[in-house]
Amino acid sequence: MKLPLGLVALLLIPLTAHAVAPSKRNHSTHDYYVLEHDPHGSASLEEVVDALGLELVEQAWELQNHWILRRPGRHVQAPHSNADDFLDEFNEWRSRTTSTSQDLKPPEKRARLVASSIRNLSRQHLRQRVKRAPPPVRPEPTNQQKNTSAHIVAERLGILDPEFPQQWHLVNEEFPMHMVNATPVWEMGITGEGIIAAMVDDGLDYESEDLAENFDAEGSYDFNDHVPLPKPVLFDDHHGTRCAGQIAAGKNNVCGVGIAYKSKVAGIRILSGPISDIDEASALNYGFQNTSIYSCSWGPPDDGRSMEGPSYLIQKAVVNGILNGRGGKGSIFVFASGNGAASGDQCNFDGYTNSIYSVTVAAIDYKGLHPYYSEACAANMVVTYSSGSGKNIVTTDVGQNKCSHIHGGTSAAAPNAVGVFALALAARPELTWRDIQHLCVRTAQEINPDDPDWETTAAGRRFSYKYGFGSLNAYEYVKAAQAWTLVTPQTWIEMPAIQISNGTMDLNRTMTGGDPIVPGGVHSSMTVTKDMLEQNNFAKLEHVNVRVWISHTQRGDVEVEITSPKGIRSVLAGRRKYDRDQGGFPGWRFMSVKHWDEDPIGEWSIRVSDQSSEDHSGRFLGWSMTLWGSSIDAKQVKTFVLKDPDTPFPLPPPVPEQPDTGSAPPSASTTKSHSKPTAHLPGDHGDAEGEADKPAFSGASPPSSGPTATLTPTADEGWFPSMANLVASQKWVFGAIGAVVIFGISAGIFFYWRRRPGFLRKGKYTSLMTDDVAMGSIDQEQRSSLGGGTRTKELYDAFGELSDDEDANEETGLHSQRNDTRNTGFHSGFLEDDDATPLEPHYKDEPELDHSRADRPPDDGTRSPGSGSGDGSWVHASEGR
Ligand SMILES: *[C@@H]1O[C@H](CO)[C@@H](O)[C@H](O)[C@H]1NC(C)=O
Ligand SMILES: *[C@@H]1O[C@H](CO)[C@@H](O)[C@H](O)[C@H]1NC(C)=O
Ligand SMILES: *[C@@H]1O[C@H](CO)[C@@H](O)[C@H](O)[C@H]1NC(C)=O
Ligand SMILES: *[C@@H]1O[C@H](CO)[C@@H](O)[C@H](O)[C@H]1NC(C)=O
Ligand SMILES: *[C@@H]1O[C@H](CO)[C@@H](O)[C@H](O)[C@H]1NC(C)=O
Ligand SMILES: *[C@@H]1O[C@H](CO)[C@@H](O)[C@H](O)[C@H]1NC(C)=O
Repeated sequence: MKLPLGLVALLLIPLTAHAVAPSKRNHSTHDYYVLEHDPHGSASLEEVVDALGLELVEQAWELQNHWILRRPGRHVQAPHSNADDFLDEFNEWRSRTTSTSQDLKPPEKRARLVASSIRNLSRQHLRQRVKRAPPPVRPEPTNQQKNTSAHIVAERLGILDPEFPQQWHLVNEEFPMHMVNATPVWEMGITGEGIIAAMVDDGLDYESEDLAENFDAEGSYDFNDHVPLPKPVLFDDHHGTRCAGQIAAGKNNVCGVGIAYKSKVAGIRILSGPISDIDEASALNYGFQNTSIYSCSWGPPDDGRSMEGPSYLIQKAVVNGILNGRGGKGSIFVFASGNGAASGDQCNFDGYTNSIYSVTVAAIDYKGLHPYYSEACAANMVVTYSSGSGKNIVTTDVGQNKCSHIHGGTSAAAPNAVGVFALALAARPELTWRDIQHLCVRTAQEINPDDPDWETTAAGRRFSYKYGFGSLNAYEYVKAAQAWTLVTPQTWIEMPAIQISNGTMDLNRTMTGGDPIVPGGVHSSMTVTKDMLEQNNFAKLEHVNVRVWISHTQRGDVEVEITSPKGIRSVLAGRRKYDRDQGGFPGWRFMSVKHWDEDPIGEWSIRVSDQSSEDHSGRFLGWSMTLWGSSIDAKQVKTFVLKDPDTPFPLPPPVPEQPDTGSAPPSASTTKSHSKPTAHLPGDHGDAEGEADKPAFSGASPPSSGPTATLTPTADEGWFPSMANLVASQKWVFGAIGAVVIFGISAGIFFYWRRRPGFLRKGKYTSLMTDDVAMGSIDQEQRSSLGGGTRTKELYDAFGELSDDEDANEETGLHSQRNDTRNTGFHSGFLEDDDATPLEPHYKDEPELDHSRADRPPDDGTRSPGSGSGDGSWVHASEGR
């Protein structure tokens, strides 16, 4: 029975290429495994599949030598069991085949050959990538037509989209220096034509009149329901459509326009239900020859206490996209920095945003201020516009002729950057993934120059943890792209790890040795020499990765910083008050872009400190550093090969090439889940006033009020708590005066800058009132403990979703019940995530709306039939185990 199944499947499947589209999975009828086959091994794929007795489904999409296998899944496990009976059996069999006995019988010999051709075999679990809670929102009052600069731009470019004047991120009449500045690019005739961006998100309403003409069906796929098109089905499948509208909403008579309004968008649906790691990996490589940019507005929870990143399989897909996507120029991955700043979260604790392969985009609001939600870190590359200080992003919504006025969060910042990159790629299609980053570094504009978070880098640029290198300016970016000389291929220097006082970590992440973290911190340093640069063909520095091994009884107390030979300091980990994890940093990898173009020769030092608290302590066991940059000689460049991140410390001596048998037995992928503090995001997100006077990382929190020169109220108060007390608020008067002053200055700058005097009008201040959207609370609640197998990913959408039908989401939680928190001793997680000890299985928090808010929009009737609980996409999660 086994054999014919495997062989029949093999005959049907082309072995060198993936099928036209991924095949449908059904986790309720089958268990899925990913096999990494060694093509140079002694046993062919057929032999391996035959020996395992599994059914071959297909190649794991674009990942070479990775194959999806399945077996009928009737294998009920005891609750809380970490075991996968099949993998247990397999591991036992494999260790028997590698026993050192000299004279093997033929079957044993064959078994050994087969085993040695299996690089890895791992079980796939469904995991929910979860969206952020939507607040109820008052619908925007329709603004009467005004004679404004937006109208003049619209007239000149023939833009008939009725909401274009509301799209302040395109033409900001009140703060003209704060906009994406794409209109001059359009006037150059560059509108993104020929470029495809994929929204890796929930559904995408490809039937929307605003998106239909720019929809790319070939690059689209629904990994939740395993159907070709990413149709929004659930009541809250709005997000992908809204993000897509920011990029590619057509120039027509519907809603507004996208930044690259002639580019195309594909929809890759992964957030509307649980998916496995291999499907997430496939999603990030889907259509990667034609699709240039992957827009990702999700990630681990922004709760200020998670430390999580992509699993090894997903990392492999990202590297595959970088090396092979777009004909080798590299896929462009754009990630939102995260919405957890108010919970002390930092984008360096998220393995997606601190990856060198991601362009990490944080947010500023329409006044150019830092919104309280937007996360800071040394890996932040740029900022662009999103919600805050009372205004949101206006973009296409799901449905016929629909427009959203409530989109925001860093979720909405990332697509604005994607739009700018689409314009640049239309102008210069040959830009590689690193050229895109270089152009960010070089053309981003400094905003709020008096913000104490800015520092000058060794290369003479300004950098801020909150703003990265500054705000993206489409015109400057595209102009620079047109004149840009492509960078040479990437190379790297992997510095030998430093072990401190016999610090060691085993595969179980048990840490011993190391120096105690004393008041003042523990220092260590390593030296980069000119020889190292030459030996590694290294021309100019770009990213710096630092891995640390630190044990600590309260991870959030730990602070880590490195200082370069030129004295430039990168804070890698700041204090996180909610992070009480006891697992320390078992080889976590941080990233900094602050040293871009710096001369790396000399001594790099690291300092690890904590809060010197009586109750908590830790030890610093060791660290390593990798410098990434451009090469001297493109011909001598090596191809980067991703290593298994799950290694003990100090790293074992280099072993000969594959196959390695026995030493690292394959494991079922460990499932993880994270809890989140209740309501760590207060309500009225979009209303809270931003700031520009606080460093991202300072010892003590700065005084909470501190009005600035612009009379900025505190984030907590906000200017416009509601329409009613808006008028009564004295602050509003001061605010308006401040706004008038700013307006005067900015108008002057704008006249000069646009060289187009005469189209600004006064009389827009009242729109501060009328445009104000009263945001509801988005009280979030950790719901505990149903699907241990779920690891959460959140949509960085502070308030873009709109619904009162939260029960449906709760259903989702219930339906996702599984007991598959398997922990086979070493983790599948990317870079040793936080949870060394198996958690109580948790299910992801589900949104809880503040039902006291009465201001509900009247558009619930538009909910699609599949809304609510229990439609297909959720069912298979529930039945899985
Ligand atoms: C999976 O298979 C079961 C049993 O055949 C079926 O009831 C269910 O609808 C299937 N689910 C999907 C998503 O196809
Ligand atoms: C609006 O602008 C047009 C020219 O674009 C001008 O003719 C008209 O007088 C203006 N209307 C008002 C009310 O300012
Ligand atoms: C990529 O684009 C080419 C040319 O337009 C087209 O023929 C091909 O089908 C596309 N492939 C995918 C996977 O979209
Ligand atoms: C480290 O281990 C070696 C050998 O086991 C021992 O000689 C040395 O004293 C240890 N050093 C520290 C600082 O513990
Ligand atoms: C890890 O822990 C398991 C059980 O707790 C133990 O059997 C195993 O030997 C440990 N592995 C290492 C490398 O310490
Ligand atoms: C095997 O796969 C598991 C799960 O993806 C991963 O944790 C582990 O690191 C892999 N091991 C090797 C040797 O590739």
